[in-house]
Amino acid sequence: MRTEYSMRIFEEMESKVRGYIRAFPAVFDTARGARLWDEHGQEYIDFFAGAGTLNYGHNNPRISRALIDYLERDGIVHALDKATVAKQAFLEAFRDTILAPRNLQYKMQFTGPTGTNAVETALKLARMVKRRSNVIAFTNAYHGLSLGSLAITGNAFYRDESYGVRHNSDFMPYDGYFGPDVNTIAYLRRFLEDQSSGVDLPAAIVVETVQGEGGIHVASDAWLRELADLCREFDILLIVDDIQVGNGRTGTFFSFERAGIVPDMVALSKSIGAGLPLAILLMRPELDQWQPGEHTGTFRGNNLAFVAATQALTYWEDDALAREIEHKGRIMASALEALPGKHPELQIDVRGVGMIWGVEFGIPGLAAQVSREAFRRNLVIELAGAKNEVVKFLPPLTIDEETLREGLGIIQDVVAGLAARRDQVLHAGAAR
Ligand SMILES: Cc1ncc(COP(=O)(O)O)c(C=O)c1O
Repeated sequence: MRTEYSMRIFEEMESKVRGYIRAFPAVFDTARGARLWDEHGQEYIDFFAGAGTLNYGHNNPRISRALIDYLERDGIVHALDKATVAKQAFLEAFRDTILAPRNLQYKMQFTGPTGTNAVETALKLARMVKRRSNVIAFTNAYHGLSLGSLAITGNAFYRDESYGVRHNSDFMPYDGYFGPDVNTIAYLRRFLEDQSSGVDLPAAIVVETVQGEGGIHVASDAWLRELADLCREFDILLIVDDIQVGNGRTGTFFSFERAGIVPDMVALSKSIGAGLPLAILLMRPELDQWQPGEHTGTFRGNNLAFVAATQALTYWEDDALAREIEHKGRIMASALEALPGKHPELQIDVRGVGMIWGVEFGIPGLAAQVSREAFRRNLVIELAGAKNEVVKFLPPLTIDEETLREGLGIIQDVVAGLAARRDQVLHAGAAR
């Protein structure tokens, strides 16, 4: 009742566009690690982690301390792209902790502070450098919703034709799109080789190594390598969108490390700022062909985010976090991979890598029921996929094992409950 009352202001004042508030109808107040509390002190486990923004947890004490200290000493918060001590520290930490140990040489561009800004920047730069307007993306891709990024985002829900943003992009089938027996790189190659395919040679191909919003589709290492080879062969830039699955989500800092490829550009956002808005485009140095100030804006590299990000990078100074991700990823895999065998009638498919997992339900509406019921049991977990058919597991990487098992236990109970009420559930699903 009290929640209903306190939700009124959001209905009264906020646009109908609000989304997550509907899936998780509580007024949240405080948070720590993988736990959230609402205005009534009700506790929740967070398996959503800000859609991949809170890999280091809510209010991580290391990061909060650094932010408080910085503010207390009147550290500069806003500086456009001027030089600051906070930015200097971040650049050095990123070079020394992330790039140098991986033998990577990238220049860094601080774009507007959201993921879609980094993608827009990558598209613009690729087109400028290659002097070609077309770009290729993949089925089920999600790259953001500003108009350039929207043109390479697959889901029709976001792509009303009247927006007129479908120019200069083509979609090709992602790994596994036609099932395990079709090599979709061979398919793509055919389009590129054929002068009459109707697909212009693109400036770039943009790819997520694991499609997050698209439904947790994991590209194989071999597919990613073939894609990188194809790009080299046809003089196409390879852009990896690591906004959701970078920052350790798949087990290594960059998600493409498992395939041993080196993209021409990498878009980073979400967890790079450890919860504060920050987005970065990494580019091979020879691609850095901007004129000074040519692609600029007011919020490019927020200094509080630099302070947070510099602290977050300390997690990568040794391999402790990577080992934790591997261990907790195995716990997630074994709990979730048992579900299809236990409940064959629910037509479950499980996919994932590291600490990003998806449980797809073949019965329409069932995934939404799982998420709703989980929330009733105080677990926050969201949906993914073209038809919201996938329950997406994205806990903070720093979650403690006990909380992880507790959250997984809630899902196991919810799914078992739905299986037990199968007839009712099928009816409700069909009615959606
Ligand atoms: C892979 C990927 N790219 C781009 C974006 C867009 O980021 P933002 O919502 O910060 O614009 C997202 C957001 O979910 C994403 O998952």
